[in-house]
Amino acid sequence: MKRILVLNWKMNPVTLEEALNLARASDYKDVIIAPPFIFIEEIAKILKKARIGAQNLSWENSLTGGGAFTGEVSASELKNLGVEYVIIGHSERRKYLGETDEMINKKVLASVSAGLKVILCIGEDSAIRKKGKKAVEDFIKNQLENDIKGTYDIKFKIQNLIIAYEPVWAIGTGQADAPEDAAEIIKYIKKLLIVSYGLLVRVLYGGSVNGKDIKDFIKYDEIDGYLIGGASLKSSEVNKIIQACLEK
Ligand code: PGA
Repeated sequence: MKRILVLNWKMNPVTLEEALNLARASDYKDVIIAPPFIFIEEIAKILKKARIGAQNLSWENSLTGGGAFTGEVSASELKNLGVEYVIIGHSERRKYLGETDEMINKKVLASVSAGLKVILCIGEDSAIRKKGKKAVEDFIKNQLENDIKGTYDIKFKIQNLIIAYEPVWAIGTGQADAPEDAAEIIKYIKKLLIVSYGLLVRVLYGGSVNGKDIKDFIKYDEIDGYLIGGASLKSSEVNKIIQACLEK
């Protein structure tokens, strides 16, 4: 399976037993499982093929920052648990926790410095989408530039950065973007990263992907994989998505 699947469990499940069962059922190559922090250590011990990701991190460093950041988790703590990837800039954190591009940029820089690979989420809301293609492209360009600012010094390599294009209105709504529209924007993002930064980067789609609509998305070669929320909690859905990716 060449496509990458990021399974974003968000604040689920509620017991370790459920988390381990779900992890076992999703343990495939090219799958990145992003459980809540509390389950990471145990899940990392049982995975054979899938990789492990975190859903967030602090931009502060435990050592140089003095560690006085109640409730936060640092990049080095994640690294020591065996975490390889971290999701940054998810629209739920932007919206409900007030994360700005500046904060997201600091998290990206902290991750890259610590050797964590970044899954950066970007995407427009419905008001911008309604204004048309140019407005969407301008918004995305701006978001991307602000979020990865300064990383060129550290030199991102293809394997260190994954972009997840997630139109905000498609997340958790059961209403995925039209695959041809998502593919167009993903093409734009790839071109932008090559032209502006010389970066060849994998770009995923996220927003209400499930075992059914994956069949429409999979036809588009420019979509390098999927970030899956709700459907990642049902092993039958995960299986269908993995199957569709394998058959392609
Ligand atoms: P969803 O979530 O698949 O439930 O829409 C996607 C996401 O976590 O961004």
